[in-house]
Amino acid sequence: MILERINELLSEVGQLSAKNAEEIEQLRLKYLSKKGEITALMADFRLVAADQKKAVGMKINELKQLAQDKLEELKASVGTEKQSRELLDLTRTPYPIRLGTRHPLTIVRNQIIDILQRMGFTLAEGPEIDDDLHVFTKLNFAPDHPARDMQDTFFIETNPDEVTKNVILRSHTSNDQSRIMERQQPPIRVICPGRVYRNEAISARAHCFFHQLEGLYIDKNVSFTDLKQVLLTFARELFGPDTKIRLRPSYFPFTEPSAEMDISCHICGGKGCGFCKHTGWVEILGCGMVDPNVLEACGIDSSVYSGYAFGLGIERITNLKYHVADLRLFSENDVRFLRQFESAY
Ligand code: DAH
Repeated sequence: MILERINELLSEVGQLSAKNAEEIEQLRLKYLSKKGEITALMADFRLVAADQKKAVGMKINELKQLAQDKLEELKASVGTEKQSRELLDLTRTPYPIRLGTRHPLTIVRNQIIDILQRMGFTLAEGPEIDDDLHVFTKLNFAPDHPARDMQDTFFIETNPDEVTKNVILRSHTSNDQSRIMERQQPPIRVICPGRVYRNEAISARAHCFFHQLEGLYIDKNVSFTDLKQVLLTFARELFGPDTKIRLRPSYFPFTEPSAEMDISCHICGGKGCGFCKHTGWVEILGCGMVDPNVLEACGIDSSVYSGYAFGLGIERITNLKYHVADLRLFSENDVRFLRQFESAY
């Protein structure tokens, strides 16, 4: 009798299940408490014949152990189920994602754009693949200007006929000037960031592609003073209010007069250091008054309108801000480099 009952209970206990702690407690009361089923067996145990006692006793112990183990097991599984249910968010991606960082060139480009937009410039973009007409001819480059040489410019030559030879990768963002003036009459106040290409051997200091930003302002009575004040404000916004600028005479085919702008070295404050080659100044852009030939070539009356243009290298400014020693780092996509830049921009 008692053995049957024990066997019944063994299979019953073996199959116990519970959804929560409360149910487990109910099971404990039912089987293991003083008034529980297993304790109740003890009353019958007293009636067991002496020679059977040992075997039945072992069976009861086995049952008790099983019940205890089972309840422990249920406790553990209910606990983890509860925990995992609380943590379970089906909208989450299945692995932790590190927040990305913006590329340093993007950060600096966005800062430059932000400053110039606040000064009234609107944003535009031109083609990276363009033709000789817009990259050089309309910008007053003489037919034999060295920039047209294949050593500087990438020509796209799928067919050696005249038309396809004329397709090139732009070597500066100034092509945006001719594209914009061609389709829009003044007032024009625009900035054009973008990628440019030059046939250069890749090294720490040069790359076959890099980034520029072109600025163009055409209206009535635009003077060099306007240009200078805009550039001074720009430099102070970008590098800090104590920044000084200086304009050195220079030459570009599409501007007359032309200048290059230096800023006071913001590392040594103008005193002279290794970074500015002990001059106290670092060059950041080229600029000038748009050559009347360029205005005319693009369909703008140079007797009515005048304007200024400027062009800067985004890598150059990024280097000044972050002291990146090797230009190649910008295009290698090494996350150890890229993760060092974090920005709200
Ligand atoms: N296009 C020139 C370059 O790539 C930079 C430049 C100089 C742009 C003077 C301008 C400018 O708009 O006025 O070196």
